[in-house]
Amino acid sequence: MPQAVPGGGKIDTRLVTRSPGRKACGGRPFIWAAAALFHLGLATLAAGPAAGAEPAVARGEYIFRAAGCLTCHTDTKNKGAPLAGGRALPTPFGTFYTPNITPDPVHGIGAWSDADFITALREGLAPDGSHYYPAFPYPSYTGMNERDMRDLKAYLFSRPAVATPNRAHDLKFPFGFRFALWPWKLLFFTEGRRIEDPSKDAQWNRGAYLVENLGHCGECHTPRNFLGAVDRERRLAGNPVGPEGKKVPNVTPHPGNGIGDWSKSDLTYFLKTGFLPDGDFAGGAMTDVIQESTGFLSDEDRAAVARYIFGLPPISGPGAGP
Ligand code: HEC
Ligand code: HEC
Repeated sequence: MPQAVPGGGKIDTRLVTRSPGRKACGGRPFIWAAAALFHLGLATLAAGPAAGAEPAVARGEYIFRAAGCLTCHTDTKNKGAPLAGGRALPTPFGTFYTPNITPDPVHGIGAWSDADFITALREGLAPDGSHYYPAFPYPSYTGMNERDMRDLKAYLFSRPAVATPNRAHDLKFPFGFRFALWPWKLLFFTEGRRIEDPSKDAQWNRGAYLVENLGHCGECHTPRNFLGAVDRERRLAGNPVGPEGKKVPNVTPHPGNGIGDWSKSDLTYFLKTGFLPDGDFAGGAMTDVIQESTGFLSDEDRAAVARYIFGLPPISGPGAGP
């Protein structure tokens, strides 16, 4: 698998270089707005691992990017330190405040063993045995392989420790009771590492891993039932109530409602730069996904994502079309 390519220079150039044959986007203001957004994103993680860093740490940084851990665990709005938590995630069940996942031994996860970390991502269980809410997308991360989890932890532990205390969630009755998550998990959570499908080739399997597990695209793009579980029959078919109550488009290859009229390179270009095929720029929660996650993937990995997405069944859903 290709290694991470940390560093900002690459990102600046791709904003001004449009892929050949595309029509001009909506003029310069878009490009500048986009460049400013990317710079903001980069500033939060200014100091990446130094050259010659441990291979596990460098691999872990790539996993960290592909899995998009930064956005939720950083309270950008209130200028919170990277990964120190405190970001408010409003949901129909109340507001979650993400915890500190820096290596601070008291307020963060600095005292955690590898096994604690793996159990959290794989089983949605805290070191004290209590259940996590699926607002932490472990129902997707459960499919990660163990090496990726270990390397991810190595990267997190290479980041600066920040002593920001966690803030309690503010949930509506009765969702504040963690023990109620046990039956929820029985009903809706399938634990376990992704098993490759031998009837499909390596690129498809890589794409499935990136979309369904690391990239957790369905956490936003798949509709949920009244108990907040994703509807697996309507995978990626759009979500009328996504993050912050906003609509998230259908990204199955359905020609009317989804992205069936996009080419694979429209999708890889979008995931790299944020430019839509009509020259407009991604908005909402997808801006963070692109500038902090898919924009850092290798071209090979973005191609795998496109391969997998265009191989999904086209589902008519709450997309932009009729
Ligand atoms: C969609 C937002 C979101 C994303 C993305 C996300 N998390 Fe979280 N995470 C949460 C929330 C919310 C909680 C708190 C869950 C709870 O209290 O039950 C949490 C909890 C955790 C915890 C438990 C911390 C503790 O003190 O018990 C760890 C560890 C963690 N996340 C690591 C990660 C890693 C690593 C990634 C990337 C692979 C990640 N998270 C991505 C929202 C997110
Ligand atoms: C945190 C929530 C979130 C996650 C995770 C997420 N998306 Fe999105 N995505 C959105 C939102 C919101 C939009 C609509 C953006 C807008 O309004 O411009 C969007 C837009 C898109 C679009 C444009 C569709 C169109 O018709 O305009 C594509 C393609 C897309 N996402 C693909 C992906 C893929 C692939 C992944 C996983 C690697 C992913 N998204 C992960 C929230 C998310």
